[in-house]
Amino acid sequence: AHFMLKEIISHPESLENVLRGRLLVGEGAVKLGGLEDIKDQLRDIKKIQIVACGGSSYAAGVGEYILEEYGGIPTKVDVGSEFRYKKILFDKETLYVFISQSGETADTLAALREVKKYGGLTLGIVNVVGSTLAREVGAGIYTHSGPEIAVASTKTFTGQLGALYLLALFLANQRGAVQSENQNFAKELLAIPSLARKILEKKSAIEAVAKKYKDAADFWVIGRKYSYPIALEAALKLKEVAYIHGEGIEGGELKHGSLSLIRENFPTIAIVPSDSVYEKMVSNIQEIKARSGSVIAIATEGNNQIKTMADDVMYISPCDQLFTPLLSVVALHLFAYYIALARGCEIDQPRNLAKSVTVE
Ligand code: M6R
Repeated sequence: AHFMLKEIISHPESLENVLRGRLLVGEGAVKLGGLEDIKDQLRDIKKIQIVACGGSSYAAGVGEYILEEYGGIPTKVDVGSEFRYKKILFDKETLYVFISQSGETADTLAALREVKKYGGLTLGIVNVVGSTLAREVGAGIYTHSGPEIAVASTKTFTGQLGALYLLALFLANQRGAVQSENQNFAKELLAIPSLARKILEKKSAIEAVAKKYKDAADFWVIGRKYSYPIALEAALKLKEVAYIHGEGIEGGELKHGSLSLIRENFPTIAIVPSDSVYEKMVSNIQEIKARSGSVIAIATEGNNQIKTMADDVMYISPCDQLFTPLLSVVALHLFAYYIALARGCEIDQPRNLAKSVTVE
């Protein structure tokens, strides 16, 4: 019915495309042709600075957690429109990563050109082959997600995440990470597409939940750690395609202000996979329920406790906590799509938005 749905259905394939021929599961290693020329320089980097805009900056946000936790390298994310006008504290031991689906986003390109003035080490994560960013950046990883037609990015988000996981594993290998852990990382990553397909098979259950909340004016979307950038991404999708006010909030920040809006039936999506911050998220859900708010949980299959707390649950398959963003984002993209459908929105061409933002 819509390109957005077709592209959400392509999430698993998009991840397979970015990993194909690059992820060496047996060795727990990564082969990236685009990094060959800079691999010696990558050995010496001490920090990573990522620059991107919109949804791509939220993929970068997941990358920040993964690159720090698995790659062991301090990582920071800035949006292009801020980075380009900030004082650049240039550092030769920093890798500057630019993420863009189109490779034509004006603010991301301007940021790249600023860094190039200093002769910085630059790397692009780009979908469109031969785009301006792909041509101007020093080295790169193509996501190979294929053309994306809907204005709201979906499958290309997964492609960007896949490239970031590959980069984290590549850097971890260079820094002598334990091989069995690398093998396990690679094995888990390779298993994700089939777990994502399971979510797609049950999409009618997500549609039913979306229909129930179609008249909501606002949504909080809460998450911690790897799930926090996914909360931001889910809120963006609600705004873009369903014209609903959504805000992504760190679970721990709720009580610092946003909790004041919780009242009867105010809906919050809680991304609460079975991970190291699960109990903390449960406390957040209890805070919301104590104020009569509604909670839609994204939880791990087999977690029955959550059903006693949340009003509705959308399940993802169990996986290592590092990879939960790749699954929760599929459920949340479907949720945004179905709520937009139920509200009769344009979906593929939302008002006021363009696929590539080539002007400032
Ligand atoms: O082509 P880019 O990835 O550089 O685009 C960046 C943003 O404009 C883009 O992600 C936008 O936020 C999407 N519409 C998100 O769905």
